[in-house]
Amino acid sequence: MTPQAAYDELIKKCKEISTLGSAASILHWDQETYMPKNGVAHRSEQIGLIARMCHQQFVDPKIGDLISAAEGSDLVKDPESEAAANIREIRYEYDKATKLPNDLVEALAKTTAQATPAWAEARKKSDFAMFVPWLEKVLDLTIKKAEAIGYEGEPYNALLDTYEPGATVAQVESAFAGLRKELVPLVAAIKDSKKKPDESIIMRSYDVEKQKIFGESVAAAMGYDFDAGRLDITTHPFCTGIGPGDTRILTRYNPNRINDALFGTMHEAGHALYEMGLEKEKYFGTPMGESVSLGIHESQSRMWENQVGRSKAFWVYFMPQAQRIFREALGDVSIDDFYGAINYVKPSYIRVEADEATYNLHIMLRFELERAMTKGEIKPKDMAGEWNKRFKDYLGIEVDKDANGCLQDVHWSSGLIGYFPTYALGNLYAAQFFAKAKQDMPNLEEDFKQGNFANLLGWLRKNIHRHGQRYRANVLCEKITGKPLSHEPLMTYMKAKYGEIYGL
Ligand code: CO
Repeated sequence: MTPQAAYDELIKKCKEISTLGSAASILHWDQETYMPKNGVAHRSEQIGLIARMCHQQFVDPKIGDLISAAEGSDLVKDPESEAAANIREIRYEYDKATKLPNDLVEALAKTTAQATPAWAEARKKSDFAMFVPWLEKVLDLTIKKAEAIGYEGEPYNALLDTYEPGATVAQVESAFAGLRKELVPLVAAIKDSKKKPDESIIMRSYDVEKQKIFGESVAAAMGYDFDAGRLDITTHPFCTGIGPGDTRILTRYNPNRINDALFGTMHEAGHALYEMGLEKEKYFGTPMGESVSLGIHESQSRMWENQVGRSKAFWVYFMPQAQRIFREALGDVSIDDFYGAINYVKPSYIRVEADEATYNLHIMLRFELERAMTKGEIKPKDMAGEWNKRFKDYLGIEVDKDANGCLQDVHWSSGLIGYFPTYALGNLYAAQFFAKAKQDMPNLEEDFKQGNFANLLGWLRKNIHRHGQRYRANVLCEKITGKPLSHEPLMTYMKAKYGEIYGL
């Protein structure tokens, strides 16, 4: 078999597996939206079966043979070519999928399946001691997983790489260290400031039907294509790229807070614009048709949510519309007051409810703690104490109970150790990309004031979306901005924004 024939066969197989997998995506979407609740058991059977079939087909030694036949041939001579990128990333996925021994995969699945309800129970009772034995088990298996995958330096490198290919502890640590140094004093200064926006504006009464209309018009203005997607309601909002021409977003509405659905919808629409911008007609089912990493995906959602949606220029255009729709709540509110309210900063316990400024502190804390845990520097039984100590240092508040502290997230019980940094990486990439976009397009703010977001979307398509996985995240960042990932663009942006709002 020639390398080209092997490559063609490999791509055909990958596309088939992805097509099968996308059937599970639609089943999952249905489960989170319209499925009657008694359908849960059968639905998990369906999704589980498809996942097993996809896995079996992918770890077939024949796939390994096809990869080997294509590797080292002329196809990969230019490492940035379509074929070279596909072969590199399929190899990466294949090794990851085949390196883990079956009994370890099974032990992880079984343990996390029990650890998750145990965590939920412990959180309900706010009793960390109840969860400790489970955390010990999950940690033990996670270290075994890292050992099986292999790593340089420390086990956390293997775990991080699973979620953010190419990222290293050293890279994350250096970006976070810079961020911590400037962000902790900024948040403290905001807390001490005498000038405070009126937060109550966002907590007035906002009719849900009207929120829906407004949210849809915002998503459409961003460039979300309702002929290639739809917006539905769910409990935990997400975006799912099912395949070419079908990328769906989900949100939830709170009648007494406009932020949740509005910025939630913009966030998910940001993810969706990335999915819609991948060249799926041509590349679906191959790395060239897939997003780079969780961090880069999150950079797209956060940019639309924060750099765009929480900017004043955006509200120059949308405020009159919002005032027409929410006449009672916003009729007497000025742009400046509304802008202040949606950017209100208040250190709080819960990560998922955190504002833009304090959010990254929540992530840094988790990164440091879970990394120390994988190195054996912190024992699971000591986690609550360590958590509370650092939380006070970073956010300036005393944790009152475990449910508001180290028991709040589902991640550790699900075995997702190494995942948290991708959230903050998303914020860092978003700021760095956006700063470059503004430099390339000095009229960007004027565009926003006119309700024109096409130039920004075009820039994202050209620089990020259409490349699929041609470049790894860190390479992409350097290609676009000329610099490695840094905390500076995010801090420059936050200092300017909060300096104005809080009179710092
Ligand atoms: Co997201």
